[in-house]
Amino acid sequence: SKFLGFRQGLVGVGPSRHLLPPHCMGFTKKYKDFKFCESDVVIATFPRSGTTWTQEIVWTMRNGLDFNEASKVSLNVRSPFFEFDSIHAVHKDIRADLVAKFLSRHPNGDPRTGGIFLEQAEMAPAPRTIKTHLPFSLLPPDILETCKVVYVARNPRDVCVSYYHHQSSLGSAEFIGDFSDFVDFWCRDLYLQAPFWGHLKEAWAKRQHRNLLFLFYEDMKENHMRELKRLDAFLGTGLSEEQLRQVAEHTSISQMKSRSSVNPPPSVYTERAQKEGRKDFIRKGAIGDWVNYFTPELETKFQAWLKTGEEIAKEIPFKYK
Ligand code: A3P
Repeated sequence: SKFLGFRQGLVGVGPSRHLLPPHCMGFTKKYKDFKFCESDVVIATFPRSGTTWTQEIVWTMRNGLDFNEASKVSLNVRSPFFEFDSIHAVHKDIRADLVAKFLSRHPNGDPRTGGIFLEQAEMAPAPRTIKTHLPFSLLPPDILETCKVVYVARNPRDVCVSYYHHQSSLGSAEFIGDFSDFVDFWCRDLYLQAPFWGHLKEAWAKRQHRNLLFLFYEDMKENHMRELKRLDAFLGTGLSEEQLRQVAEHTSISQMKSRSSVNPPPSVYTERAQKEGRKDFIRKGAIGDWVNYFTPELETKFQAWLKTGEEIAKEIPFKYK
């Protein structure tokens, strides 16, 4: 069979039946009740939209451009994943003291079935930069009254291609179909955090809020400095042009692809991906890679799916290049 999402399958929940990994199921109330604080910055995204990139940017900007710490300590530790146990998933390359503290509390923790992930966010020292793929409707209703949120959106064709690589190379998903199979699932909104349009719609509706910054992956690619300046103003980090230039260099695709602290260790990939030397978590980092994957038939199919989001898409200025 072809696996999609987590090996255990997908689970639907919430107002627009968001498909979550099963391990999130018992925790939806806890997510909503989580106590964010004023100094938190949450990076909220639909998967494969530039989360890791934005996390690294925001963490670096808020931590005095500590490039040394950023190279030494895994991003999963510096910027915890709200609803996932990334410490267990990647613990081999992260700070021993943190791992020891965590494992002493959860000797039998399991990244897929444990419910211990919220604690990673709780344990992180302020100022916390927290990653989530949860849509707004599954986060605390007053989150924007409490802290700042950076939402990053990316055009769905590139997201789909990127997600295919992600799902077929990671051991937690092990999707074994080809791209056309993946598009088939996609067009039926069967992927983690589906529906794509619903996820975006919820964030877009809040874009005028002073505590929400709505960014596009394509804008960040097109003019990194301009978007860094927007982030600087939003976060109140007061960095100089030269400092922002250093952040841009530190977070370029080439630097991020080769820095182990922002990449998962080889063990998270399937055996096959490891053999093939695929490191698809941070992959190509390009706009428009989809042209290399969509055949005319797949394009026709995708067009029909795009129509399901027409109402939202016409409001959101995506750049399909
Ligand atoms: P591709 O698979 O198209 O290359 P996320 O972090 O939300 O999972 O998003 C992953 C996507 O962001 C991947 O897209 C990845 O390569 C891209 N990405 C990661 N770091 C990047 C960077 N510094 N610049 C541009 N794109 C980056």
